[in-house]
Amino acid sequence: MSNNFLIYGANGYTGELITRFAVERGLKPILAGRSAIKVEELAKKHHLEYRVFSLDETDRLDAALQEVDMVLHCAGPFSITSRPMVEACLRNKKHYTDITGEISVFEGAAAMGKKAEDAGIMVMPGVGFDVVPSDCLARHLKDRLPSATHLSLAFYGMGRLSHGTQATMAMNVGKGGAIRKDGRITGVPAAWKTQEIDFGEVTKTGVTIPWGDVATAYYSTGVPNIEVFTVVPPSNLKMMKMSRYLGWLLATKPFQDYLQKQIPVGGPSDDERAKGKTLMWGQASDLNGNRVESRQQGPEGYTITAIAALNIAEKILAGNFTPGYQTPARAYGADLVLEIDGVSRQDVS
Ligand SMILES: NC(=O)c1ccc[n+]([C@@H]2O[C@H](COP(=O)([O-])OP(=O)(O)OC[C@H]3O[C@@H](n4cnc5c(N)ncnc54)[C@H](OP(=O)(O)O)[C@@H]3O)[C@@H](O)[C@H]2O)c1
Repeated sequence: MSNNFLIYGANGYTGELITRFAVERGLKPILAGRSAIKVEELAKKHHLEYRVFSLDETDRLDAALQEVDMVLHCAGPFSITSRPMVEACLRNKKHYTDITGEISVFEGAAAMGKKAEDAGIMVMPGVGFDVVPSDCLARHLKDRLPSATHLSLAFYGMGRLSHGTQATMAMNVGKGGAIRKDGRITGVPAAWKTQEIDFGEVTKTGVTIPWGDVATAYYSTGVPNIEVFTVVPPSNLKMMKMSRYLGWLLATKPFQDYLQKQIPVGGPSDDERAKGKTLMWGQASDLNGNRVESRQQGPEGYTITAIAALNIAEKILAGNFTPGYQTPARAYGADLVLEIDGVSRQDVS
């Protein structure tokens, strides 16, 4: 037992933030990534050890995992990067966590659940803003209404998006939306549904998006019908609707190359993060007309991501884990999110 962890993709915007927060907690993760200069610079700044390898350098990846008990994977888009790391964790019997929000990644990890259980490791994608707060809210609603058959979740994230978040979103633009219907992930048109959402402080128009909870809330609650809403500026809503007809064009390589080049590096500054906040709303209902509604407030999204990911890392390193594929709320319960400073939750009805 090394009682330590590896942060892969440590030099990215979120990886760097997590590294900084980890050091502030007195943790000494081993940093890793594929770009020697960037990883070395960050490691030297924080007096941490580092390893340099790309995800197809299997020997180096395995050697790095042998030095730790778990990985916190921060290199996305995870639909490209997750699989080789999960497979390496299974080979080396080390716990896997990441900060994805991509439905395909959650489902891919869930499909490896039995292998993870056999290896005695926990595989938990989505330890960031997507999905810790919404997963906990989903679990809370289900705990309040055990007969729930339908879940609606919404978030209003008031803040700037990082390079990687935008890159991941751009990659998926034109692929339409998704909901869970009768237990199955079901494709729907982009911006399929809009609804007025009362977040408490503000009421906003929410629009359905293919957010991670469409996958994860099902594992956390067993509720078979799930929709997730967010709030976007009216111009973006128009574009989302247009993407229904232009999806084929948006997915072409030249357009994707163009889109990816437009995205600025970095993400919100410390000041912007300090000023930002996130609001959530959720509702569970059943076939007899019973309905419960709750709200949640918390710090800015990247701040939540870093704190939630490290809270979970500390639990795993302390031996508090459940082998197999896990979601945050299934493994740690609805109150996991309340361990984050500044998070509050109220039951509305
Ligand atoms: N769940 C959440 O709430 C949440 C929150 C924050 C971020 N995220 C997700 O986390 C990911 C990172 O976001 P970010 O803004 O931190 O990104 P970023 O600043 O663009 O950094 C991306 C990092 O991933 C590495 N990387 C990218 N592709 C790679 C590959 N194929 N192989 C190895 N390394 C690779 C990059 O390495 P190089 O520097 O060498 O290119 C860099 O270290 C995104 O997918 C984003 O959507 C999710």
